[in-house]
Amino acid sequence: MTLINRFEVDYGIDAEWGRRPRIRWAPDHPGAVVACLKTEGGVERLELDRLGGKAESEWPFADLGDAPARLALEREGVPSAEEIEVRGQEAVWEAPLIGHPDPSHGAMPFVARRRVTVEPGDGRATLRVTAHGVYRATVNGRDVSDEVLAPGWTSYPQRLLFRDHDVTPLLKSGENVIEVEVAGGWYTEDFGHLDNLGYRYGEQPGVAARLDLLGPSGAVVETDETWEVGSGTLTYASIYHGETRDLRRVPQWAPAVPLGPVRAANAVGVPAVRRQQRLAPASIEELADGRIRVDLGQNIAGWLHLRVRGREGDVVIARHAEMLDDGELALRPLRRARAEDRWTLPDGESVLEPHHTYHGFRYAELTGLRREDLIDVSGVVVHSDLRRTGEFTTSHPLLNQLHRNIVWSTRSNFVSIPTDCPQRDERLGWTGDIQVFTPTAAFLYDVRAFLGSWLRDLELEQRALGGVVPTTVPDPILDIRTPTAAWGDAAVLVPWALYEAYGDVAVLERQFTSMVDWVEAVTRWCPDGIWDRGYQLGDWLDPAAPADDPGRSMTDLGLLATAYAYRSASTLERAARVLGRNEAAERAAARSAQVKRAFQRRYLTSDGRLVSDTASAYAMAIVFGLAPDDGIEQAMGARLAELVRSAGFRMTTGFLGTPVICDALLAVGEVDVMERLLLQTDSPSWLYQVTQGATTMWERWDSLRPDGTINPGEMTSFNHYALGSIADFLHRRIAGIAPAEPGYRRVLVQPVFLQGLEHAGAALDTAHGPVRVAWSRVDSERVRLTVEIPHAVEATVDLPGHGLVAEVAEGSHAWIVRAPRRSLDRRARLCGLDTEIAELREDGEAWDDVITTMSALAPELAERTHADRGVGTTLRDLVRYRSREIQASLAEAIDRLEVRRA
Ligand code: BGC
Repeated sequence: MTLINRFEVDYGIDAEWGRRPRIRWAPDHPGAVVACLKTEGGVERLELDRLGGKAESEWPFADLGDAPARLALEREGVPSAEEIEVRGQEAVWEAPLIGHPDPSHGAMPFVARRRVTVEPGDGRATLRVTAHGVYRATVNGRDVSDEVLAPGWTSYPQRLLFRDHDVTPLLKSGENVIEVEVAGGWYTEDFGHLDNLGYRYGEQPGVAARLDLLGPSGAVVETDETWEVGSGTLTYASIYHGETRDLRRVPQWAPAVPLGPVRAANAVGVPAVRRQQRLAPASIEELADGRIRVDLGQNIAGWLHLRVRGREGDVVIARHAEMLDDGELALRPLRRARAEDRWTLPDGESVLEPHHTYHGFRYAELTGLRREDLIDVSGVVVHSDLRRTGEFTTSHPLLNQLHRNIVWSTRSNFVSIPTDCPQRDERLGWTGDIQVFTPTAAFLYDVRAFLGSWLRDLELEQRALGGVVPTTVPDPILDIRTPTAAWGDAAVLVPWALYEAYGDVAVLERQFTSMVDWVEAVTRWCPDGIWDRGYQLGDWLDPAAPADDPGRSMTDLGLLATAYAYRSASTLERAARVLGRNEAAERAAARSAQVKRAFQRRYLTSDGRLVSDTASAYAMAIVFGLAPDDGIEQAMGARLAELVRSAGFRMTTGFLGTPVICDALLAVGEVDVMERLLLQTDSPSWLYQVTQGATTMWERWDSLRPDGTINPGEMTSFNHYALGSIADFLHRRIAGIAPAEPGYRRVLVQPVFLQGLEHAGAALDTAHGPVRVAWSRVDSERVRLTVEIPHAVEATVDLPGHGLVAEVAEGSHAWIVRAPRRSLDRRARLCGLDTEIAELREDGEAWDDVITTMSALAPELAERTHADRGVGTTLRDLVRYRSREIQASLAEAIDRLEVRRA
């Protein structure tokens, strides 16, 4: 007998199934599941019909009404441990916005208030709220929910969300006061670049609320002129710049002005942003001039929580930064974002926390406060509420820290929408960043509803641009109106990645029009299949791109874009087949075949060279399946390995090449090259930043440069998940959990036993229950592999190289397999000046010695040697035109090294 451990009721994005929610449960089990609905009228029981054979069902009862009911599931007569409250959800609300009659400056916050008399016995009540901006609602001074930054950021002109809060416990009979504090939030933010700044949606915030008394009176109170508005303690608020409050201020009330109704959609299925965790500081330091420096020891998105003692009129200021630079807060990377909270205090003790802003920071500095008056300080981690589903761990501390950093960057950037970074004057839903990161995010957290909601906005923005997907969603800047590869491809690749992770066909159904429209927009833009015109961001931030021109990557823009045109068209074909849309599938198949041929004709030579001879180009072509046959793919792979080797196993890829490079190397059997690249600690590499004390994933490979200075580029964030897309590879190929079928109904177990690791493993809480895979070395010859599979799931263990190929079902399984340990250390053949640079590079010790010697002899020579790809080049080639002394010293250094190592 298997009990139901967990089940959920899904009302769909924007309450599309509002009165007939879908039911999902785990673990999956072929036996009958009975739903029990308890209403005032009694208990109704019905057997559930599985949707598509999965542990998911459509609503079996009559439409839900407004009165709450309770739902439980039963299997073999045993009820689930929990019951869930359900009630019909209204999908749309014509929200009557009100505003301040006389705002004195742009984006002026205000408080709206209404007194409401409740008759005894009026019973249950809900308060529905939305805002052009962000709000905090209270009833009789108590918060109606713990949600912050509500109702979140959506593409406001097309989509605004509201939420119903149960306020029954907050109301009393007699007079009650509803108050809503409103700030402009994202609605009035000054989005933009350089001089192109300003309000994108509106100049002033607005709010709409509706109290429903569900008892006998049935009274409804909505925002209108009978509400009062006033300026409360909050005098200024901005997402980028912070919040200013005068805690002494009392509002002057005036009648509200109606701003007209706006259509709002029910946010019931969309995760709310909440305070998630409190962090005690790693250190609190008093600086010589009295400033107080707080180090959280962890880069986060959120704010400070302070308890202070003050005298009336004291002004406390908190500034925030991710890094220190020369002992001071590094504010330059924040660009325009002031990230500053201010409070004017009353006498006595105050608790200070901002509410309508957030900051990306590890360090904060307080002024206006004596150390002894700071009673308490902590960091408050704020992000969308997501259920953690995936874990990963190994014996390699740096790799573990990298993974931890990627998790923290997910947490810091899943704040209402998937953002690029949480700190500077940006925090936008860059489509390319989440496009490469979705597979990782969908393993770490249940992001179905979070990204499902964002995809609604993507489709709406796309529709406004006639099929073209903007580079940010929401798109407050509207600066790019032609298709941009890899960024716009989010329209196809994000829904597909969600489908692969959750097996949820609904996301494909919902997004199908958007997916088709994107592929058609690209087809119109480049009908012959070669996408070599228009604005492109390319292999963004590859390490060769100049600090001030991150789009000038090494890889040809047309090659990258055409590869993505193929990727999306071929993925669309698969999606269409899943949905049984045969005509659409045929069209997409024809288009992807056309693009593939065009790609091969334009960019690929007959012996497997790409015209853009870069690691990113080969990696993408291999993983996307652009090679005409296996032979050519092998040749491309050999060249890829050669390029990685000659770069000294350092990264040469940007946002696009990085997610696929390790997969590409494995696909062509270059396991050792992959391992050396993955475990590299010199810059640029994944682990370099870990050695530099990073606590989140960086935007640039060298956001902090090896000389300890912060990268001077205009874009230098220390909290960007894009390059962290490698975690998906870690989960699938280092631990070995991959979906063999969408939603992990069948799991592919195919770990690579890295030479540098003693053990590795991962756990994933799938819709069917937990999957666990772990391996560890028994001795120098053997590895023990364990696999745990839940009910109704099967796994394919596919390790032919280790003599193990197996199909297994539910339960725990273990094997001991052959996995002889080899050394990855390659020793260069040292032959004086005739030693090859490429060979030296493979030998970390020899390479360091040579570079150190060169730096002492002629620094610019060392730099050139570093930059030299070195295929076929010897040391002699590099010093041919140098003085005899330099040549002799270098030859001597090599001899000394040879003697030392002999
Ligand atoms: C963002 C990136 C984004 C890029 C594209 C940057 O400023 O931070 O992550 O994808 O712009 O232009």
